Amino acid sequence: MKTVFIDCSPKKRLSASGFIAGFTAAFVAGKKKKEKLRTKADYGRVLEAVKDADSVVFSMPLYVDGVPSHVLPFLREMELYCKESNPALNVYVIANNGFIEGRQNEPLMQVMENFCARSGISWRGGLGIGGGVMMNVMRIMLTVFFGLAILNTILAVVREGSFQAGPLLGFGKQALEVLFFGCGIVAFDLWLAFCINRQKPFGKRYTRVMLPSFVFILFADIFFVIASFFQGGMFRGWLAKKKPAD
Ligand SMILES: Cc1cc2nc3c(=O)[nH]c(=O)nc-3n(C[C@H](O)[C@H](O)[C@H](O)COP(=O)(O)O)c2cc1C
Repeated sequence: MKTVFIDCSPKKRLSASGFIAGFTAAFVAGKKKKEKLRTKADYGRVLEAVKDADSVVFSMPLYVDGVPSHVLPFLREMELYCKESNPALNVYVIANNGFIEGRQNEPLMQVMENFCARSGISWRGGLGIGGGVMMNVMRIMLTVFFGLAILNTILAVVREGSFQAGPLLGFGKQALEVLFFGCGIVAFDLWLAFCINRQKPFGKRYTRVMLPSFVFILFADIFFVIASFFQGGMFRGWLAKKKPAD
């Protein structure tokens, strides 16, 4: 059994789609291939990988309530290939979005289901994840916390001359907190992996980061204000040289 995981985020690094594709792949048996679909230059390579696959997992962000525009021409090319070659292919989708409600991915799921129907391949369902940015931030923070825990453990050994369990226990507590917020995502994703392994339908399921919406909005606002300082999103518009009107 060969499964191809396609990370459809246009981000070069640290995409939520890439992370969740990798996480799912860890629980899928058989031959696995991970592909990145960012630009037109990737289309040929990704299509080649799909040709001898049993299942394809598209992992993508929700853009403007739909499939990101750079993915649509690829779907057209894949549809032509499928109509010509009639492959026995199972398609699963993992979609993540910025807002907290995973159900916002429903229109994207419908597009992907229609794509499968037109292409004559088997739509096996999809998982929509709300709070994708937060999921991504949590896993990056967890990696940083792990690094700090290791560093503090080494420093404690150098300083005290003996092993101190404190930093690792602290990390364990942080990991449990992250697991609590991500428990819906982990549970649904394991279920999805189970269905991929058996090539069974998963249906359309929606989950989210386990945080009340009003708390999420507060965190999201703070996050985007800070992010705007580093990426210029909020201030670039104000500071940019204005083009003279034609
Ligand atoms: C151009 C653009 C459009 C977006 N549109 C939506 C949207 O309609 N609804 C939503 O909840 N999030 C939207 N988002 C947020 C992304 O879905 C979210 O940041 C996602 O976690 C990115 O995933 P990635 O890291 O895999 O690229 C949009 C982001 C961008 C850049």
